[in-house]
Amino acid sequence: MEEKLSSVAKTLTPSPIQQLSYLAQRCNAVNLAEGFPDFPAPLHIKNAAVSAINSDFNQYRHVQGICDHVACKMKEMHGIAVDPLTDIVICCGQSEAFAATIFAIINQGDEVILFDPSYETYDTCIRLAGGVPVYVGLDPPHWTLNSDKLEKSFTNKTKALVLNSPHNPTGKIFTMDELEIIAGACRRRDLLAVTDEVYEHITFDNERHVSLASLPEMQSRTVITSSLSKTFSVTGWRVGWAIAPTCIASAIRNIHIKITDSAPAPFQEAALSALTSFPAYFDSLRRDYESKRDCIFDLLVKVGFKMQFKPQGSFFVFAELPESWPLSDVEFVEELIKQAGVVAVPGCGFFHDNASADFESQRFIRFAFCKSDDTLAIASAKISELVDATGNLKLFKINQ
Ligand SMILES: Cc1ncc(COP(=O)(O)O)c(C=O)c1O
Repeated sequence: MEEKLSSVAKTLTPSPIQQLSYLAQRCNAVNLAEGFPDFPAPLHIKNAAVSAINSDFNQYRHVQGICDHVACKMKEMHGIAVDPLTDIVICCGQSEAFAATIFAIINQGDEVILFDPSYETYDTCIRLAGGVPVYVGLDPPHWTLNSDKLEKSFTNKTKALVLNSPHNPTGKIFTMDELEIIAGACRRRDLLAVTDEVYEHITFDNERHVSLASLPEMQSRTVITSSLSKTFSVTGWRVGWAIAPTCIASAIRNIHIKITDSAPAPFQEAALSALTSFPAYFDSLRRDYESKRDCIFDLLVKVGFKMQFKPQGSFFVFAELPESWPLSDVEFVEELIKQAGVVAVPGCGFFHDNASADFESQRFIRFAFCKSDDTLAIASAKISELVDATGNLKLFKINQ
């Protein structure tokens, strides 16, 4: 039967991460692996969804009010004027918005620049569309963008570039200088930029998210994708959007309608309540996540990880294994599941470039801190127990 599969489907095999996730389930491990909250969504939003279901919003639906609010937010946060009637497409999460964008702009053989490490889905979408991902490694420990490396990655086939900031898996926020470098390259080479801004509201230490589209001459060449998922703890509701120049938005809309028709109707209704949350909601979101970040970051420092970079945003700490721990990232996570009952994600799944694969990709572990304080306390206790009097993780002694 396998010969019936498309060639691209054959390349999509389960990652080591999925296999570890089965092991974690068998061991009933505390989950610091996946980037979704394990605590309830805000009550006012849940009530809005319940009320929408009770009011029989059961059919295909386009809730224009979402586009109106997203347009207002764009003006308020980034000073960008967007026409809510033509330039915003509501999709099933950022994931569909991104896939539809790629299908709208990428032809067979077009090259798309991605930063390495990166969220895995971009690669798959680009390849499904017949495009070719081209990776530019970010330099550890601060995951800095090197403008020469970026410049060398362009060819006459380069069509677009993908930017995710705040960044999964590292927690980096691209600096203004880096955004200028990216924008400069897009302008000079007439490239499109596709941004993933799902962590736009989850920023720490007074850092603020700046959209690439807000830089001079960038709005006309940028597609912004984002969603409700992370900001409102509703990753399962599947409401997101793409914001694009009118002609591209229209193509994205056509693809979205052919593929899924509409995002879930009751959750689109509830999105209206979410997007009109008071400013205090966004402030407390940042504060809560900052203290969760501190909790996990400090724990990892305490147990001996090499912590040279403190995340500035997103749900993740990307922790480096010290040279004295003789395990690869996958081996470490396996031991962490079996011995501590905690699961995290080996970094290798986020690296694609062979040059960086040699050293970095097997040295990082991604810990998600978008978890309840109870979950974080249990995970902290379990991980702390593994430290001996000299501050080393005991599990490494077993393996030495
Ligand atoms: C960087 C990034 N983009 C997008 C998504 C998925 O977003 P959505 O639930 O809106 O599809 C995730 C989820 O983990 C993510 O980390």
